Amino acid sequence: MNTRRVLAAAVTITFATGLPARQPHVAAATHALSDTLREPPLLRNRSRVPGVVEFDLTAAPAKLRLIPGGPLVNVYAYNGSVPGPTIDVREGDSVVIHFHNELPETSTVHWHGLHLPADMDGSVLEPIPPGTTYDYAFRLARGSAGTYWYHPHPDVRSTYQVAMGLFGAFIVRAADDPLAAQRIPEKLLILSDNRFGADGQVEFPDPRSITAEIDLENGREGNVLFVNGQVAPTIPIAHGALQRWRIVNASAARVYRLALPGRPLIKVGTDGGLFEHPVEVPDVILANSGRVELLVRGDSSTVLQDLPYDRYMPQTRPPDWDSTRTLLYVRGGRVTGASAVRPLSMPAVLRPIPTLDTTLVAARRVIVMSQGQLDGKRMDMHRIDIRARLNTTEIWTIQNVVGMDHPFHLHGFQAQVLDRGGVPEPFPSWNDTVNIPKHSSVRIVVRFDDYPGRWMYHCHILDHEDEGMMGVLELSN
Ligand code: C2O
Ligand code: CU
Ligand code: CU
Repeated sequence: MNTRRVLAAAVTITFATGLPARQPHVAAATHALSDTLREPPLLRNRSRVPGVVEFDLTAAPAKLRLIPGGPLVNVYAYNGSVPGPTIDVREGDSVVIHFHNELPETSTVHWHGLHLPADMDGSVLEPIPPGTTYDYAFRLARGSAGTYWYHPHPDVRSTYQVAMGLFGAFIVRAADDPLAAQRIPEKLLILSDNRFGADGQVEFPDPRSITAEIDLENGREGNVLFVNGQVAPTIPIAHGALQRWRIVNASAARVYRLALPGRPLIKVGTDGGLFEHPVEVPDVILANSGRVELLVRGDSSTVLQDLPYDRYMPQTRPPDWDSTRTLLYVRGGRVTGASAVRPLSMPAVLRPIPTLDTTLVAARRVIVMSQGQLDGKRMDMHRIDIRARLNTTEIWTIQNVVGMDHPFHLHGFQAQVLDRGGVPEPFPSWNDTVNIPKHSSVRIVVRFDDYPGRWMYHCHILDHEDEGMMGVLELSN
């Protein structure tokens, strides 16, 4: 992906000239039966105190029609919807979430990517038994604006509970977001996939079957792809108009390679929010649990594609791995007068991203990812794998020694990538999930500025996490 280029600062993007030079024919670019994209409901704030937001979130079994015309499916849902309601808050807010576990099993709510006290992280170390309530409370730091998500993180059952429907988006907004200042409309796109049996219910393989063995290797993938719980919905964008897409990969294992055929993507942010400058890329590889923000302009009709991406071991690679899938339809509109073509002046800097200082590094570590293990070990909740100090900076080399990709995730902290496979990262950005391609290494730098306690780091292929491809980091003074 060295074809990316940083768009010139203070660039003025005008879309007055109609079609781009190369516009391949996209078969069935609009689909007559496709529904317009809906967004999950917003979780309602029940606080009246300024700066405090308070929510109720209940995980419970439900019956929902997941596919139009299909049967009612037994699911687990947050507040009755799949995906769960979107939590939409601002930097500086004090957030209180009253979580009610009405599932027949232990769960947690993990606030993936957020920087918060360790006992509020909803990790495997803080199980919430069935029939009980837990109050998650934390304050969102300045500079934390970005697209995050929440999902269960219980011992051994994350794959199951996420497949049953427990996941939702968590958006943190900045007061001075330059794209919001331009009134660019936003779309949230939560990508997920699932697998259904002949009875239409969510299907899980017999644990002794070959399918279960392959799932354990690849991670669970489903053949039905959803965007916000809809199959191939449509997003209308008027010609010349611009939209900001916040995309969350909530799949258990699927890695998406996102592309709009014949057009570059304008990437403006990742897990921990906006970049300093937009970059143009031909496609985006979005590993499971990662997020990306794109600017998409209205043009002729097209589709958002998931291109083939070979993350697999040859012996368990699915036979259809190299097919291109349509995730959604983008319906272009006609120019309805000069006002539809709005010149947009981008600010010189979306927001400053300070490069983490690597001259004073307290520790350099190597973490080896192999099949189902980190550093040759399985997770033990009672073992500390890494001891580190607060107010220090560390450089971690994440080394994947096997022949499939593993997305590495660190709880509680946003890290910066230094290099991938020895290639220096072209510009700094904030990430909590970094895909480590087969037989390669990625170096990250992380600053432990706050929050003592125990933190997880793991492969975010949920089957691998459940299997114990996870370690414990303890931060102390
Ligand atoms: Cu998305 Cu350990 O989490
Ligand atoms: Cu996490
Ligand atoms: Cu893995």
